[in-house]
Amino acid sequence: MKDFVQENKLILLGKLTAGLVHEIRNPLSAIKLNLDYMKMAQDDLPSDIKEIVTDTLDAFEQVNFLIEDVLDFTRKPTEKSHQVSVSALTDKCLKIISTTARSKRVTIKKEFEEDLPLLNVNKNKLMQIFLNLINNAIEASEEKGNIIIRSSKRNLNNITYVIWETQDFGAGIKSEDKEKILSGFFTTKSNGHGIGLGVCKKLSEEIKAEMIFESEYGKGTTFSIQFALDDK
Ligand SMILES: Nc1ncnc2c1ncn2[C@@H]1O[C@H](COP(=O)(O)OP(=O)(O)O)[C@@H](O)[C@H]1O
Ligand SMILES: [Mg+2]
Repeated sequence: MKDFVQENKLILLGKLTAGLVHEIRNPLSAIKLNLDYMKMAQDDLPSDIKEIVTDTLDAFEQVNFLIEDVLDFTRKPTEKSHQVSVSALTDKCLKIISTTARSKRVTIKKEFEEDLPLLNVNKNKLMQIFLNLINNAIEASEEKGNIIIRSSKRNLNNITYVIWETQDFGAGIKSEDKEKILSGFFTTKSNGHGIGLGVCKKLSEEIKAEMIFESEYGKGTTFSIQFALDDK
């Protein structure tokens, strides 16, 4: 019963977030209007105030992007495909998850090959996969741990793959648990739900990607998402 109560709370929170974000948008627009007005009048302002206005506008843009991303994420996914830059999408995820990482003082390093091809996938689904995997990596890490997110291009049997992976150096997965973790409702966390990876597996199939993982108990885990690119 306890689990259902907690799960219901999370579902509610998910629904409320979208509403909250909408509510935040209105006062934010008012702030933006005022700032724009001050910016227009900047020639009459002392230079230190001018600087404050510019900094505040920059800060506003950061909050605004975050809000648009969260709102975009909470929307019901369509089946639409988009041209997605894995690097830009990873940056969005890292922004959304930065508070969680910071509270555990986990450092996330991004190692991306240059000029990776764009993927033709549903952005929302891919974002949900990335957020789940990065979140799991953070939860598996010790305080002040490190996580590496890599992406590269590989050629196998004349098919080009874009590989995206998160590597953590944390808890690892016991051999006997490896076949259970994707099946859903399996969790080793006291506050876990065991839903994330099942969802990742399902979404990966929907976007025609494959999810695989390697893990050594006590050493760490790597989850990889592999996309086969359409022949052109
Ligand atoms: N990066 C990881 N390192 C170690 N174990 C992991 C990692 N990712 C997932 N797991 C294991 O898989 C289980 C299921 O993960 P998930 O489906 O996301 O649910 P939850 O995170 O709520 O437990 C986790 O409880 C954990 O035991
Ligand atoms: Mg999880």
